[in-house]
Amino acid sequence: MRSAPRLKSVREEMEVSSSVANSRNGPVISARDLTRTYLLGEVEVRALRGVSFDIDQGGLLAVMGPSGSGKSTLMNLLGCLDAPDSGSYLLEGEEVGQLNDDQLARIRSRRIGFVFQTFNLLARTTARANCELPMLYAGVPNGERHERAERALELVGLGDRMEHHPNELSGGQQQRVAIARALVNDPAIILADEPTGNLDSKSGIEVMEILQGLNRNEGITVMLVTHDPFIARHTDRVLRLADGRIVADEEVHNPLVAGEAERPSDIGLEEEIA
Ligand SMILES: Nc1ncnc2c1ncn2[C@@H]1O[C@H](COP(=O)(O)OP(=O)(O)OP(=O)(O)O)[C@@H](O)[C@H]1O
Ligand SMILES: [Mg+2]
Repeated sequence: MRSAPRLKSVREEMEVSSSVANSRNGPVISARDLTRTYLLGEVEVRALRGVSFDIDQGGLLAVMGPSGSGKSTLMNLLGCLDAPDSGSYLLEGEEVGQLNDDQLARIRSRRIGFVFQTFNLLARTTARANCELPMLYAGVPNGERHERAERALELVGLGDRMEHHPNELSGGQQQRVAIARALVNDPAIILADEPTGNLDSKSGIEVMEILQGLNRNEGITVMLVTHDPFIARHTDRVLRLADGRIVADEEVHNPLVAGEAERPSDIGLEEEIA
């Protein structure tokens, strides 16, 4: 059976065999001077004003910054949902910053796992079918589709919820289905734009437990946007955006282990009530 950990080792084998040819041993993502300006009628909004950074294989990082600072714009570029106006974006050593829509769609469906704040699951299909969808687009054969969807759902702790529809799942469980869906094509990176933004703090930490576990145990590279400093403290690195630029790139010392640490404000609240 083709399991997610095994998918990764297939990827690693591919990387070893092709590393000289296309330098896949380098960073997973290498962004240089990315810019993106939106035109709203006559008004130009300079959402990204030249953003450069690398993400290494196995990284776990958070993007923070005020509302409107360009976080989602950046995630959309990295996720090949949108293209930059200028700059270079290397995904596993391959320039993808200047591709057309069809080419971007191909890269997106095969190499990127995107997780949205609002889960974006298909309401009328089961958790299993939601997870099979990206593989359908990628032309994965039937039997393998079932197996990989099941394995991904097991990996996010939903082995017993495969036949549930989204409205039969809690918010945290729905986001876990979305993470499983993001995993099935063995992406180079999981990009999550405020994955805990629509969840209560307990479900948010559960989602963080899954993302951190995938990173720590499966070596999957994860980049997430959050407004929540407590969530960010569960990563290894925080990129701070302000006004379309990176204003800080900080290492997180002693990252918290999801589920083990208590949210400081929660402790405060309990003390107050007591
Ligand atoms: N499709 C669009 N058309 C025009 N302007 C846009 C568009 N999308 C975003 N913007 C503008 O670009 C800037 C960056 O927006 P972006 O969504 O990247 O911010 P953000 O950091 O994700 O904010 P939030 O924390 O609120 O999600 C904002 O000023 C926003 O108004
Ligand atoms: Mg946003």
